[in-house]
Amino acid sequence: MRVLLVAPPGAGKGTQGALIATHFDIPHIATGDLLRDHVARNSELGRSVREHLSRGELVPDGIVLDMVRAAFIEAKADGGGYVLDGMPRNLAQARELYEIGRGLEMTANVALHLKANDEELIRRLLTRAVLQGRSDDTEPVIRRRLTLYHEVTHPIVDWYASRGILVSVDAVRPVEQVARQVLTALEAMRPLVQHVPEHARRSVDLTGLGAAFGRS
Ligand code: AP5
Repeated sequence: MRVLLVAPPGAGKGTQGALIATHFDIPHIATGDLLRDHVARNSELGRSVREHLSRGELVPDGIVLDMVRAAFIEAKADGGGYVLDGMPRNLAQARELYEIGRGLEMTANVALHLKANDEELIRRLLTRAVLQGRSDDTEPVIRRRLTLYHEVTHPIVDWYASRGILVSVDAVRPVEQVARQVLTALEAMRPLVQHVPEHARRSVDLTGLGAAFGRS
């Protein structure tokens, strides 16, 4: 299974990405985590991106694409599956990622879109700020991250819809309910991704199915 997570800050990419990775026994590649690790180690790359992260700006495409290419090569040696969290962030990254995937025969089977409104996202990230103190979890920076998401990241959702690999889920529910719907959808798609070519598939919008997955 090869899954991309496309979602705003705080929607649950890290949370659901970890659960998907465990469920399918595939690596969880999180660009934000990889970048924060460089910053924490004060590597040359970390020093070059520290300011971007703390201001909530995107780091240059080439840096993240190189990191993901290296992670894909490792994932290929490990069976070829992955859940990619935090990339792509714009259409240029989406196109380049597709080319990397094609070159390695590892293009994504599913682009999972976690939908949530800005008020809920701000509330979650300000709560996390109290618990974890991530440098980009201040209200002005959260708002900047959300603006960037709406302006440059969200448009790629339509691109994945047109490729027939989009699955949309309502993420404003408890973690377990979102996870149940996500894993059920991915399990249902597993035979499909193995046998039906991308161009013959249809996108799936599960955002209206909250009640069926435990919304009270
Ligand atoms: P990144 O680390 O990807 O941050 P983000 O997109 O802002 O997302 P978050 O990690 O804040 O949220 P999430 O969606 O993962 O949610 P989570 O599960 O953590 O990127 C950080 C920075 O790195 C970027 O701003 C940029 O500078 C740079 N960067 C990264 N990738 C890049 C790229 N491709 N190109 C350029 N720059 C890049 O959950 C959030 C909180 O909510 C947690 O406390 C969690 O416990 C809680 N929560 C989760 N789900 C629920 C739920 N269902 N109900 C209630 N609470 C929940």
